[in-house]
Amino acid sequence: MAEVVILPSAAEAGELAARAIAALVATTPDAVLGLATGSTPLTTWRALAAQALDLSRVRGFALDEYVGLPEGHPESYRAVIAREVAEPLGLTPALVRVPGDGGGALSGAGARYENDIIAAGGVDLQILGIGRTGHIGFNEPGSSLASLTRVKTLAEQTRIDNSRFFPSIDDVPTHCITQGLGTILRARHLVLLAFGSGKAAAVASALEGPVSASTPGSVVQLHPKVTVIVDEAAAADLEHADYYRHAWANRFDWERF
Ligand code: F6R
Repeated sequence: MAEVVILPSAAEAGELAARAIAALVATTPDAVLGLATGSTPLTTWRALAAQALDLSRVRGFALDEYVGLPEGHPESYRAVIAREVAEPLGLTPALVRVPGDGGGALSGAGARYENDIIAAGGVDLQILGIGRTGHIGFNEPGSSLASLTRVKTLAEQTRIDNSRFFPSIDDVPTHCITQGLGTILRARHLVLLAFGSGKAAAVASALEGPVSASTPGSVVQLHPKVTVIVDEAAAADLEHADYYRHAWANRFDWERF
């Protein structure tokens, strides 16, 4: 069972996620972070940047990248990660990877990325958002629960949701390269964030529905260490919300025993 934490706001959620990252880096200065893009992790990056930690040895692997955008496009995830994550946090650019960034044929890029993650020792802490389709990474409904990094088609809903970053829907790529659900499950700790009423159905389906390729985010139920941090609006459809609030408020402190 994932630990589900319901907080009043995205800002408070970001502070809690940032605390988890800071605690990891305090013991492991060269920790491997799994990086999500999009709006959801922004409060986490902001809270982490405010701590002004030395994160220069931290290594990062992005979840996904669009396929087909011209080199240097400001909405490519390589550019977004550089602008919104690496620069404000003081990460070392050469230590931050995005799928496909090694160049070469796209067909082999997935396997190369998998090998690079393994060579780095695996992801210590993976930050995840969730799409309204229930996707994590860009694993849209129908994705194999065991999938590894590969090229995928984006769901129409996801293209519509992400068109806010582009002049029009026609400018949103149709394809992406994304870590698979199996890749994500290999990370040692998953921190899934979701805010706003638009995510409520996906969150409830992922956490309380059946584990199914129809809701790719439901694979987190198979992971031994998951922390889900949501605001009240994103928690609105959770049947066991009261239990989660109670469990968090009465957290058992193992360290004291
Ligand atoms: C981003 C990613 C996606 C997003 C999801 C939510 O790297 O893999 O799964 O986390 O689409 O996006 P936002 O946070 O913009 O609502």
